[in-house]
Amino acid sequence: MIKLGVNIDHVATLRQARYADMIDSPNCEPDVLSAASACERAGAHGITVHLRADRRHIQDRDVFRLRASIMTKLNLEMGNTPEILETALRVVPDEVCLVPENRQEITTEGGLHVAKHFKALKQTVDRLHSAGIRVSMFIEPEADQIEASAASGADAVELHTGAFANVLADFKEDELDRLDASARLAKEKGLVVNAGHGINYDNVHMLKKIAHWNEFNIGHSIVSRAVFVGLEQAVRQMLERLKG
Ligand code: PXP
Repeated sequence: MIKLGVNIDHVATLRQARYADMIDSPNCEPDVLSAASACERAGAHGITVHLRADRRHIQDRDVFRLRASIMTKLNLEMGNTPEILETALRVVPDEVCLVPENRQEITTEGGLHVAKHFKALKQTVDRLHSAGIRVSMFIEPEADQIEASAASGADAVELHTGAFANVLADFKEDELDRLDASARLAKEKGLVVNAGHGINYDNVHMLKKIAHWNEFNIGHSIVSRAVFVGLEQAVRQMLERLKG
């Protein structure tokens, strides 16, 4: 079965909308730790959070508290900056997923250009590895990015599924072919193959046709459904779709 990492950034987005300046208030809600526990109770295989440079949703203390409390695994998404890297080395998540980060974007937009930033990324991979942290590269499904990721020593790639999610139905098969070829190449190179961005309850069945997936990281769609059915139920419904 494809594993499910639930991205709970949007739980923190909701909290920050009201309590950004009062994070210690007893009224402060929704609680990110309770959200992580609900996902785990429902059977999620991991919890994913993105510590952004502007701290717009997840805060440092969330990451440290999650590290101490979650029972599955913590996947920390982060841009490759010295400040965030030092934090990651103190938190010691199970995995780091290196992502590009642009302050103006609403969510992570493109994949990381591993070939272009190879030297800096390789140094970060080495530092994370020396702390015992597995490393994944969030990349476009392109051969040169996969080859550069493998050469950097990364353990995994997370293929960006945003283009697949956003194209009209007629072009979905083309995007699936691109993802399929990339997943195969990544596997051949010895990389663990994950996917994320824009995966939802309606499109997940198409992605499932591709072999080699290890894990999907899904946030927006699950948290959106949770508004209506609750987080545990939303996670269970996604896990049902990942089976088989
Ligand atoms: N994976 C990565 C690397 C991301 O940046 C995001 C968005 O935060 C996700 C997965 C989850 O994407 P979505 O919220 O569209 O499910």
